[in-house]
Amino acid sequence: MSDDTIAQPNRRDILYIATGAMATVAAAGAAWPLLDQMNPDASTLALASTEVDLTAIVPGQIITVKWRGKPVFVRHRTPAEISEAENTPLASLPDPEADSKRVKKPEWLVVIGVCTHLGCIPLGHEGEYDGWFCPCHGSTYDTSGRIRSGPAPTNLEVPNYVFVNDTKIKIG
Ligand code: FES
Repeated sequence: MSDDTIAQPNRRDILYIATGAMATVAAAGAAWPLLDQMNPDASTLALASTEVDLTAIVPGQIITVKWRGKPVFVRHRTPAEISEAENTPLASLPDPEADSKRVKKPEWLVVIGVCTHLGCIPLGHEGEYDGWFCPCHGSTYDTSGRIRSGPAPTNLEVPNYVFVNDTKIKIG
């Protein structure tokens, strides 16, 4: 086959090709802002996780931090509180869960501060088990955040978190 038999694009074809190419570029340009705005912005990403500096929390103290709109209790447990949590027979618990499954380090308990009954915020160092007491309907939680009495059906939830280093955790 000689070169003479291959159809060469004429000026109109070149115009069509150029127009098509421009349209593709324009569509890509229009789609990028559309796709980009679907990504979470920096402030949303920041809210997705929260870092907590533990250095100022003394043994026995509970602080409350906000994470994704919810309170999270970070409790620096004393040796007595740890011992109480670790030595509670699981058979005595309405929602049996070993303390070791709820903490990454015995000194630190991190739980979502929302009562599992109807969502009130329990009060720390209150109630029969010195964990938390929910003022709404009287649920009591122990030093591991486990439900011990009252209408709440389950333990205080443990959020996903990691130790960034010995003195800092990242929740979420
Ligand atoms: S909301 Fe806590 S006991 Fe009802």
